[in-house]
Amino acid sequence: MGSCWSCCGEHKIEEERLTGENKKKNVGWRIFSYKELHVATNAFSEDNKLGEGGFGSVYWGRTSDGLQIAVKKLKAMSSKAEMEFAVEVEVLGRVRHNNLLGLRGYCAGADQRLIVYDYMPNLSLLSHLHGQFAADMHLTWKRRMNIIIKSAEGLMYLHHEVTPHIIHRDIKASNVLLDSEFEPLVADFGFAKLIPDGVSHMTTRVKGTLGYLAPEYAMWGKVSESCDVYSFGVLMLEIVTGRKPIEKLAGGIKRTIAEWAEELIGRGRWRELGDPRMRGELDEGELRRVVGVAGLCVQSEGERRPCMRDVVAMLKGVVGIGIDQGTSYNDDDGDGDGDESGGFGVFGAMEETYYGRRVDAKKGNGF
Ligand SMILES: Nc1ncnc2c1ncn2[C@@H]1O[C@H](COP(=O)(O)OP(=O)(O)OP(=O)(O)O)[C@@H](O)[C@H]1O
Ligand SMILES: [Mg+2]
Repeated sequence: MGSCWSCCGEHKIEEERLTGENKKKNVGWRIFSYKELHVATNAFSEDNKLGEGGFGSVYWGRTSDGLQIAVKKLKAMSSKAEMEFAVEVEVLGRVRHNNLLGLRGYCAGADQRLIVYDYMPNLSLLSHLHGQFAADMHLTWKRRMNIIIKSAEGLMYLHHEVTPHIIHRDIKASNVLLDSEFEPLVADFGFAKLIPDGVSHMTTRVKGTLGYLAPEYAMWGKVSESCDVYSFGVLMLEIVTGRKPIEKLAGGIKRTIAEWAEELIGRGRWRELGDPRMRGELDEGELRRVVGVAGLCVQSEGERRPCMRDVVAMLKGVVGIGIDQGTSYNDDDGDGDGDESGGFGVFGAMEETYYGRRVDAKKGNGF
């Protein structure tokens, strides 16, 4: 075992293995031998390959006792990959939540690092929004709302309930997996960093995926929970609209999903925000609520974004977000772009209510 691996706390993990439990789903985890995983995945054959990410390929497999698994085989054993492995195992060992994909096991041979998860038969949200299942339209409005709320609860758990708190750092559609009932499980804690108590943010090398990155993270590598909130805001918009986080327009111009949404909202065309594949079968009140919360999440200033606890409360309607339905578009300067808040302009009015006080975003004197 490499040094990073050892420093990650072998004892701790062994402890977790013994006490580890997820009573509801009966998830405990164990160490797999390389041979066992080799057999289960048909020698990591191309036919078994579910996909490929930044740190390696993922293969479908079946163990000798019939369990369907997904095996992430980390690429080369660079020190970087080894660190990823150590981080992921350490973090996964701590996580127990119905909407977070926990660890089923791992294999750490002399030159191999593999992570074993439960196989999620409906693969990732990405495959349903933009991939091989996009045309099948399994994602009804009800399912989309459920996916949004439950993933938010998973993130809330990482941010507020695990000690020390965990920042995911790579929230995106391919990292939300769907079980046979389309229940969401947020996956991939390989990028996560454990945040010691009392530390509000850390400066670190930027990881993550373009389109989902909070500006302060992309530009200065400043990481905090609010970076996940930003990514989650983008993801919510993606789920309700079925659009990609960034689209390329003619002439190489790029438009973010928030910019696109803002334009429609500005013209009061809320219903058109809904993924056309739903053929209008959606709850407009809920759509406005989700988009409203997403707008708060994608504000350019991290301090103005809500925390995940508030995001969950607002999504469930426990706390209002003050959407003045259809008229919240704020275009004080009359230039037609509605961008008065320095972020997602349409949300000027919502911010005011959310924070419970008048915020003059233009002058920046609210905070
Ligand atoms: N447990 C699983 N069950 C089913 N499919 C999975 C499982 N884990 C991963 N996948 C799929 O395998 C593919 C590769 O996943 P992987 O996490 O390696 O890459 P990624 O999510 O695209 O990028 P990143 O490296 O940034 O996480 C993805 O399409 C993912 O949805
Ligand atoms: Mg992934």
